[in-house]
Amino acid sequence: MAQVRRPMMAANWKMNKLIREAEEYVAQLLPRLIDNEGVDVAIFAPFTCLQQIGRMTQATPIVVGAQNFYFEDSGAFTGEISAPMLKDVGAEAVIVGHSERREIFGETDEMVARKTSRAIGAGLLPIVCVGETKEERDTGEMWDKCSGQVQSVFEELDKKVRGDDIVFAYEPIWAIGTGDMASPEDSQAAIGKIRALLEELRGEQFASQVRILYGGSIKLENIGEVMAQKDVDGGLVGGASLDPVSFAGLVNATLSS
Ligand code: PGA
Repeated sequence: MAQVRRPMMAANWKMNKLIREAEEYVAQLLPRLIDNEGVDVAIFAPFTCLQQIGRMTQATPIVVGAQNFYFEDSGAFTGEISAPMLKDVGAEAVIVGHSERREIFGETDEMVARKTSRAIGAGLLPIVCVGETKEERDTGEMWDKCSGQVQSVFEELDKKVRGDDIVFAYEPIWAIGTGDMASPEDSQAAIGKIRALLEELRGEQFASQVRILYGGSIKLENIGEVMAQKDVDGGLVGGASLDPVSFAGLVNATLSS
């Protein structure tokens, strides 16, 4: 039986917005969302804004998430934030292994795997990002890179983890912040292969439950065609999520596609 996966539209603010700006954003976003039932809306905000966003969205189904954390729960890790700390400020989800963390901050596949496993253990929904560089795509190494990133996550993951405990995001690095989105066919091809790999690793039921998002230069003009692809379950949006009117438009477009 075909599994119906609930779409997810997620805003990744990256290192943007002060608390006052986050408040204005949420105040403008909420009245613009036409239907809370058909799509999971998530906001991945800087640590400093999480508590306030949580308060403002308490009576709504909006998922509040962080963009990173460290896999140990406490101790001598100066500057780091743990999963229990995220829970403490009301976060319900966390982005893991975004390419900016991998490339700028040196996160390895092994760290991403440990973070994913710890997030789930702590009751946070991890959005695990994978994707290839332009060079890897051009030299035919794209699938090696993406499949390696997905596979390494499962080296750490408990067998009891269910498909709906984890979300993946396919984000080709060359498409992030460039305006150069992957074509809907290419997104479907990559995401379909990731789902087939998940089936190999954990079976059909698991694979059919996992939501896999596309990320990279999503805008209102191109969201419809990407969401129409059968294995694409939503979007992780950077630039176009910073404006509440634009992000509300993307959420509402997801419902109609
Ligand atoms: P973009 O970023 O939408 O600005 O391309 C996506 C992301 O980095 O998650």
